[in-house]
Amino acid sequence: MELSPIDKAKFVAAKRAAEFVESGMRVGLGTGSTAAWLVRCLGERVREDGLRFRGVPTSARTAALARDVGIEVVSLDEARWLDLTIDGADEFDSDLNLIKGGGGAHLQEKIVATASDQMVVIADAAKEVEHLGAFPLPLEILPFGWQTTQALVEETLISMDVMGRQASLRMNTDRPFVTDEGNYILDLHLGRIGHARQLAMVLNQIPGVVENGLFIDICDKVVIGFGDGRVELRDINAGTVSSDRIEFVEDVNLFKDI
Ligand code: A5P
Repeated sequence: MELSPIDKAKFVAAKRAAEFVESGMRVGLGTGSTAAWLVRCLGERVREDGLRFRGVPTSARTAALARDVGIEVVSLDEARWLDLTIDGADEFDSDLNLIKGGGGAHLQEKIVATASDQMVVIADAAKEVEHLGAFPLPLEILPFGWQTTQALVEETLISMDVMGRQASLRMNTDRPFVTDEGNYILDLHLGRIGHARQLAMVLNQIPGVVENGLFIDICDKVVIGFGDGRVELRDINAGTVSSDRIEFVEDVNLFKDI
């Protein structure tokens, strides 16, 4: 089966980041299509290299996949603190601030990433932006009084440094999309976010808002994948950038069910 260039880019980023995991570690496992590649790559290392680590999934989807590929899955409360979290992102900027939650899992993702010594983001190059906000910002909200919360959010956005101010309820065909925590998601169509840190704090003050998808000062490294097998590794704390190349070998186990 031939993967698209974007899938190859996601795969090589995930494969490179899987090398950060060592035996004995407690590792947060992200959610989304790039994180799914990571989980498969880690499963391969468990099966073939004897890697032994405990994974804390950030969604029911990731938990099921991790178990399926042979990773020992524990809850965050069992692990308490993690060595590393590896996750995808919908957008990242040059400070490695992120928009997450396109898959609706940013609440657990933020809790897990914040409880980690390090967060590594894996992404294809198209996720890099100069200014966050073209991707609609996900906001997890309680179902109780959600229309009132939506009105309060839109009113709050009037005084914020953003280009657009419309919020839409995320749907799953004809019903509201429901998160693993039983909540709803508002997608905020902001176009461009001027002060992401301020916006993140203000949104979380609104009653009914559970968590926004802005990850500010949480991510430490990004592994950017390209369709030709190149990967670029940026470390925001060390201020370093390095490049690598991942051999793209079609693996029967890795690609099954895709
Ligand atoms: C899940 O809620 C998100 O935060 C994902 O990490 C993000 O949407 C990236 O997903 P992809 O890897 O599928 O692009």
